[in-house]
Amino acid sequence: MEKWRNTHRLLRQSTKSLFDRRSHPNFQNSIHLSDSRFTHNFGRTCKPFRPYLEHQKWNPKTCFHPLRDHLEYPKTSMGACIGKSGKIQCRFFGSVATKTQRHPSFSSLNADDISYFKEILGEKNVIQDEERLSTANTDWMRKYKGSSKLLLQPRRADEVSQILKYCDSRCLAVVPQGGNTGLVGGSVPVFDEVIINTGSMNNIISFDKVNGILVCEAGCILENLASFLDNQGFIMPLDLGAKGSCQIGGNVSTNAGGLRFVRYGSLHGNVLGLEAVLANGTVLDMLGTLRKDNTGYDLKHLFIGSEGSLGIVTKVSILTPPKLSSVNIAFLACKDYLSCQNLLMEAKRKLGEVLSAFEFLDKESVDMVLNHLEGVRNPLPPSMHNFYVLIETTGSDESYDKEKLEAFLLRSMEGGLISDGVLAQDINQASAFWRIREGVAEALMKAGAVYKYDLSLPVEKMYNLVEEIRTRLGQSAEVVGYGHLGDGNLHLNISTPQYDDNILAQIEPFVYEWTSKHRGSISAEHGLGLMKANKIHYSKSAETVQVMASIKKLLDPNGILNPYKVLPHSLLSYN
Ligand code: FAD
Ligand code: MLT
Ligand code: ZN
Repeated sequence: MEKWRNTHRLLRQSTKSLFDRRSHPNFQNSIHLSDSRFTHNFGRTCKPFRPYLEHQKWNPKTCFHPLRDHLEYPKTSMGACIGKSGKIQCRFFGSVATKTQRHPSFSSLNADDISYFKEILGEKNVIQDEERLSTANTDWMRKYKGSSKLLLQPRRADEVSQILKYCDSRCLAVVPQGGNTGLVGGSVPVFDEVIINTGSMNNIISFDKVNGILVCEAGCILENLASFLDNQGFIMPLDLGAKGSCQIGGNVSTNAGGLRFVRYGSLHGNVLGLEAVLANGTVLDMLGTLRKDNTGYDLKHLFIGSEGSLGIVTKVSILTPPKLSSVNIAFLACKDYLSCQNLLMEAKRKLGEVLSAFEFLDKESVDMVLNHLEGVRNPLPPSMHNFYVLIETTGSDESYDKEKLEAFLLRSMEGGLISDGVLAQDINQASAFWRIREGVAEALMKAGAVYKYDLSLPVEKMYNLVEEIRTRLGQSAEVVGYGHLGDGNLHLNISTPQYDDNILAQIEPFVYEWTSKHRGSISAEHGLGLMKANKIHYSKSAETVQVMASIKKLLDPNGILNPYKVLPHSLLSYN
């Protein structure tokens, strides 16, 4: 009781919108908490929080991941990755080693190709520089690495069209690339595919303030769009830890979920229209800005979540919600998973329209962040807390929203669902709470090898899987569970000092079979990419996958767009 009273008193002093801080690029992570159990003045300032831009500067030459040393890949140069047979071991670590064959129907680049691309794009947009190629060939997790010799940077859809038309006629395979923050190996080449990077198509085309509709090019960075909208009094309907690097075209192509999904829903609902270029160069103008349009098949949905396998998205029109003035964030501890689950049920019922995030982390996830990220502190005193929940509310009435949240927290505490908690008093604290949740992926990368799974499961079953995996692996691995509990999305991650085939054999196919048995999805939000192209059958029927393959064949008969990704390799036929 006492603690929420204190919180209540202090909350009144908090005036500025917490949203500002959350998306502000240069905030300091100093935490000044209130009294009683909340009197932890960490007062420590850490580096400005822009973690996901950092990896762009990462130089694979000097920072080679130590865990990759076991790889069967020739280590000398990336060009040597393909053996004489054209067969590679494409996984460095993290999943079953998949032998993928370079498809013989694809051509190899020649000097005429390069000259053509220079003619249409100009010299500087035809990149052959080794260092830049090295970065573009390697994914964010440093788990997949291709051996592309060419990166193209088109500035407009007509340039994308010319590139694709030419590549299709020459049977040159391509990989569309946005911010390269994807987590399933979809954004990097498997072999020597030409990388088509959308980063130079980064203009905001229009913003309709009356209806909240933003139209922009695919290469706009999510965080930049958020800042633009902030000035207009609006927000993006999606937000994720990679916002500083990922691009809206990549978000749409992966149908990214993220931290606001529980409130604003999927991009299938928020994207009103898009422009996409097909493999043969046809530009499909579906850039509508209407909420309602039932004229025939809604083809834009084919491109939302198809991970660059059906076309390259060049423009997007998206519905953006108004920015509301009152944002509150609580970081809570729960004694067990059942309490988290009951808290979610209560939050949906009692916070209703103001609930804007409901994220959960187990103790192991929080420890991972505390142990591996600088300047991050647990705002709660160390104790026996096994689970943590981050609740955010967003509304338009400051006193009403606060009272509502506080009453909810008080009741939940009295009912034993919450064992401890803090409410952010200012935007610094809000950022610090979010940093813990958003930092898990980065912390895991620092800890060692990561076996990453992104699953949709019934909430009541979800954590059983984490426990079963923990039992299976014993002391040999650190198993962490966190994610978007409000959406039934578990991020199950297994961390080991180094990659080990024996550990992998205990994880897969167990995780996929378990998920399938509970009618879950093996990809809640990250997509299938290369990692799970051959696993789709765990979540989709054979007939459904066959229709997908037919659509692929129709739109990309030569299979040049992001080959080896999304669909099982056995179903992909090439002309
Ligand atoms: P890329 O990684 O470049 O590409 C992803 C896929 O889309 C590839 O298959 C690529 O070929 C294709 N693609 C990219 N651009 C285009 C285009 N214009 N046209 C056609 N195809 C294209 N994901 C979530 O869903 N929720 C999260 O909460 C989340 N958090 C993350 C946190 C961190 C720290 C990191 C590193 C990643 C996170 N992700 C999350 C995964 C990733 O950020 C998202 O999938 C994001 O949407 C990818 O955008 P991108 O621009 O980086 O795309
Ligand atoms: C997240 O929710 O943090 C992201 O999806 C990244 C991850 O799964 O690690
Ligand atoms: Zn996620």
